[in-house]
Amino acid sequence: MLVLALLALLQTAPTPPGEDPVAPYAMSDANAGGRPFKGVAMLEAFNGVAGIDRIVDDLVTTSQADARIGDIFKGQDMIRLRRTLREQFCVLLNGGCRYTGRDMATAHKNLGIQAKDMNALVENLQAAMRREGVSFPAQNAFLGKLAVMKPDVVTR
Ligand code: HEM
Repeated sequence: MLVLALLALLQTAPTPPGEDPVAPYAMSDANAGGRPFKGVAMLEAFNGVAGIDRIVDDLVTTSQADARIGDIFKGQDMIRLRRTLREQFCVLLNGGCRYTGRDMATAHKNLGIQAKDMNALVENLQAAMRREGVSFPAQNAFLGKLAVMKPDVVTR
């Protein structure tokens, strides 16, 4: 019994300060939902990890305030979402991070997200990337990575 309890503890990462606990899951960069870009061109186009962090903050802030999709974020752990989204974007852009979040199907399964919600979020992301000065081809390459995840995110 004690051994089982210890094993369970080992498999559950500690909850970072300010975040809510989530059900245990296997941690892996594969949960990020796509293979990272190769080389440094995409990371440079996003102005490095600092640029990624600004884009994620912009995306989360505008999406929470967005009349079309803001309600979906109400009552959710936005501290965790900002952290894991930064990690995810950083992994995909080959920025040398680890993704510690859940896979896309698990993270979105109870949210009832529709295609129009995904479109609104993509618009907000495009605006955030534009404000950061990301080139148009780099924006589109990144959106292509995220588009593959749509079947896991859009559930109705
Ligand atoms: C390809 C598009 C998307 C990506 C890459 C993405 C990425 C993520 C990530 C990394 C997480 C956190 C996972 C974790 O907590 O372990 C998350 C959670 C969440 N996402 Fe998305 N997301 C996408 C689309 C959307 C859309 C369209 C919406 C709503 C308009 C949305 C709303 C949320 C909410 C509310 C959570 C928090 C769920 C919870 O804490 O239980 N996401 N997403």
